[in-house]
Amino acid sequence: MRIAVFASGSGSNAEAIIQATKKGTLDAEVALVVTDKPGAKVVERAQSYGIDVFAFSPKDYNGKAAFEQDIVSKLKKYDISFLVLAGYMRLVGETLLEGYEGRMVNIHPSLLPSFPGLDAIGQAFEAKVKITGVTIHYVDSGMDSGPIIAQESVRIEENDTIETLRQKVQAIEHTLYPETLQQLFTSKEHN
Ligand code: GAR
Repeated sequence: MRIAVFASGSGSNAEAIIQATKKGTLDAEVALVVTDKPGAKVVERAQSYGIDVFAFSPKDYNGKAAFEQDIVSKLKKYDISFLVLAGYMRLVGETLLEGYEGRMVNIHPSLLPSFPGLDAIGQAFEAKVKITGVTIHYVDSGMDSGPIIAQESVRIEENDTIETLRQKVQAIEHTLYPETLQQLFTSKEHN
C-alpha cells in the first residue's frame, strides 16, 4: 500500500506513521508527504527519512480546485492509493474527494461528534468534560464529519493542565493511528 500523509504543522503523527512502516508494524510505504505549509516542521521530519515532500502555498493558486488538481497530479505520479490526513488543517474539496473518497482518513483530537474544528483539545479542556479522546474517521465534505472508524478515550483529571492533556491525547494518537491504518489495510475492504 503506497500512502501519502498530509500535514500542516509539526508532523508528530506523520512521523509515528513513518516509524511504524519502518518497524514493519504497518504494512505500507509513506511514498509522499503533502503540506500546505512549506515551512512546517513536518517537511524536515519527512526529509530526515528520505521521503519526498510536495509543499505548496495555497496563495500561489487561484482557489482550492487549482491546488487540489496539482495534489492529484502528484498522487498519480507517486502511484498513491490511500490518503492519511494527520493535522492537515484544511477542508478537503471536491477535486480530492472525487478521486479518493473512501480511501482518505483523518485523525481528530476529540471524541467526535464532540468538539469538531480547531483546537479540539482546548475546547474539551474549557468545557470541563471529564472524558475526551481521539477519533479516526473517513473524510467527507464536512468538517470532521465522516464515518467513524476508531475512537479511544482520555480521562481529564483534576490536576491536568492543557499541556498535560495535550501530551496524553497525542501519545494516544501516535499509537492509535498506525494501528488503525494496519487494521484497515489488512481488512477485505481495502484489498
Ligand atoms: C493532531 O493532534 C491532530 O489530531 C490534529 O492536529 C494535530 C497535529 O499534530 N488535527 C486536527 O485538529 C484536525 N481537525 P502533528 O502535526 O504533531 O501530527
